[in-house]
Amino acid sequence: MRYLTIALTKGRLAKKTLKLFEKAGIEAKEAEDDSTRKLIFEDPDMKIRYFLAKGPDVPTYVAYGAADIGIVGEDTILEEGRNIYEVMDLGFGKCRMCICGPESAREYLASGDQIRVATKYPNIAKDYFLNKKHRTVEIIKLNGSIELAPIVGLSEVICDIVETGTTLRENGLTVLEEVCPLSARVVVNPISMKMENERISDFVRRMKEAL
Ligand code: PRP
Repeated sequence: MRYLTIALTKGRLAKKTLKLFEKAGIEAKEAEDDSTRKLIFEDPDMKIRYFLAKGPDVPTYVAYGAADIGIVGEDTILEEGRNIYEVMDLGFGKCRMCICGPESAREYLASGDQIRVATKYPNIAKDYFLNKKHRTVEIIKLNGSIELAPIVGLSEVICDIVETGTTLRENGLTVLEEVCPLSARVVVNPISMKMENERISDFVRRMKEAL
């Protein structure tokens, strides 16, 4: 039997996913060891192998079929826009995509003035302003610490993830508008969905039971 390959998202989601794997009876001890430099892990009994990748790369592995299954945040799924199936909401990694800025930016949002939006998610931001707010904005792509942008005057607002709200609070920023709620999802390659339907359904069933 061929191995079923699963792409996991490195970082916060990985810890929760690996705990879930253990509960579901998938060997995860080796992957949970933070000091390991190993990239790929396997459970020979379950005929499952999995690896850790950067979030935005997970939909790529799944879309090309290099991974049958992926576990990744809804933010990344929306941003990457790959041809993959979303089959399950894992219910953890809960947060919100929001438009944030200083309280003073509220008037810019309400006015028709040209505004600059700094974000790690240019596609989500563009879609929100164009299709929901019916206005064009200037999108400035950044790769992290997005909250800096309105503080130093790179942009009026940001489009970013808010989880606890601590980062905003500690930097004098606030949520101005909510774009959408987010959480971790299980995604599947469309061909794997047909060819490995039984095993993928079994994997999803195990995940549901473990939750
Ligand atoms: C994310 C996000 C916010 C923060 C929100 O950044 O971009 O900055 O977490 O969490 P909070 O509401 O609980 O404070 P992350 O830590 O992933 O790093 P980054 O800034 O490098 O993107």
